[in-house]
Amino acid sequence: MKDKPILRYNANERTNHWLVAILFIMAALSGLALFHPALFWLSHLFGGGPWTRILHPFIGVLMFVFFFFLVLRFWRANFFIANDRLWLKRIDRVMRNEEEGVPPIGKYNPGQKLLFWTLLLCMLILLFSGIVIWRAWFSQYFDIGAIRLATLLHALAAFVLVLSIIVHIYAGIWIKGSVGAMLHGWVSRAWAKKHHELWYRDVTREDPPDSQISKKG
Ligand code: HEM
Repeated sequence: MKDKPILRYNANERTNHWLVAILFIMAALSGLALFHPALFWLSHLFGGGPWTRILHPFIGVLMFVFFFFLVLRFWRANFFIANDRLWLKRIDRVMRNEEEGVPPIGKYNPGQKLLFWTLLLCMLILLFSGIVIWRAWFSQYFDIGAIRLATLLHALAAFVLVLSIIVHIYAGIWIKGSVGAMLHGWVSRAWAKKHHELWYRDVTREDPPDSQISKKG
């Protein structure tokens, strides 16, 4: 059927994504509470200062674990392909919503791909630096120089991650239909063709006449 919607994210992928999003918000709020005295009031959300300090690293590790599952699901679809370079060159046309001269792209556009790898880099830095500064368990194995460097890297990576997620949310809202895809899984054929034509061709080529069309990377 011509107007049959296409499944972009299955239930496991959506649950995984929203778990990461919730854990990200918790990690960011508890981290900000510990970052500066002016934000210490945020610690009330987690049961006070000591509880915030205890919980923040566990929330962070849990976020990393679920984020890692997301990476396992999506890393292949985030490899750059030949058309991506031209798409980036023509980003001004994309921003003006023009279609002429903009090459078709796969499941994710190059902006999403850059963001994906930035998120992964930030998460890895946060995890490793976080272990070094986790006083209760690991800090005794590192000297003060390493702990200071790790503290700086932890704050820098968190800063870049928060900015990246703001861009991620903004882009999701800007491209109408994206948030719906992550909420209920489906996108219209017109949406898939307009925003991710190579992916659209890929999933519809395998479209058996009377079955659901499932997503593919
Ligand atoms: C907090 C609010 C968030 C919102 C509203 C949101 C929204 C979305 C939407 C709409 C998509 C689908 C994009 C598409 O299919 O084209 C998506 C995909 C994705 N999101 Fe989020 N997201 C949020 C948080 C996060 C966080 C915290 C992370 C990870 C740290 C994350 C990682 C991803 C990844 C990896 C994808 C798949 C895209 C790719 O692999 O390039 N999201 N998100």
